Amino acid sequence: MIEKTFVMIKPDGVQRGLVGRILTRFEERGLKVCAMKMMRIQKELAERHYAEHKGKSFFEPTVSHVTSGPVVCMVLEGENAIAAVRAMMGKTNPQDAAPGTIRGDFCQVTGRNIVHGSDSSESAKREIGLFFNDYELQNYEKIDEAWLFEQ
Ligand code: RTP
Ligand code: MG
Repeated sequence: MIEKTFVMIKPDGVQRGLVGRILTRFEERGLKVCAMKMMRIQKELAERHYAEHKGKSFFEPTVSHVTSGPVVCMVLEGENAIAAVRAMMGKTNPQDAAPGTIRGDFCQVTGRNIVHGSDSSESAKREIGLFFNDYELQNYEKIDEAWLFEQ
């Protein structure tokens, strides 16, 4: 099923100059960029984004980290895009993330795992709505689609 998912390159990914390499992985996989922007997240938005973790020990440090510098937010579309992106990101703790995954190749610790991806279709819908207005989503055909997909 063709799905949209929300992806965010966190401040550590931006500071370490990994935006291009992370984006390239998604593009090379055949995922379509439907929206993308750099922004500085306010505390309130970060708390809403990570609301499911409110009360947990890592909630405050996580909110503090994602608001500490600019992030790059995007909406990616493709076949089973939500699970595909999560698989490409690797496990939350980079020590458990397989080599070949973003976290497994570029990260050391959980609190600096450089990328976020929606974990379910409900999360994807909610997060896309939190970070993007409808008019910011581009609806277009890419020339490689004829070769990425069967007709
Ligand atoms: P994300 O939401 O950022 O895509 O990461 P995730 O689904 O793989 O992990 P999640 O459980 O949703 O946790 C959100 C973020 O909180 C930080 N965290 N720290 N110290 C800890 O035990 C811990 N657990 C999670 C990480 O930055 C994680 O990405
Ligand atoms: Mg999560």
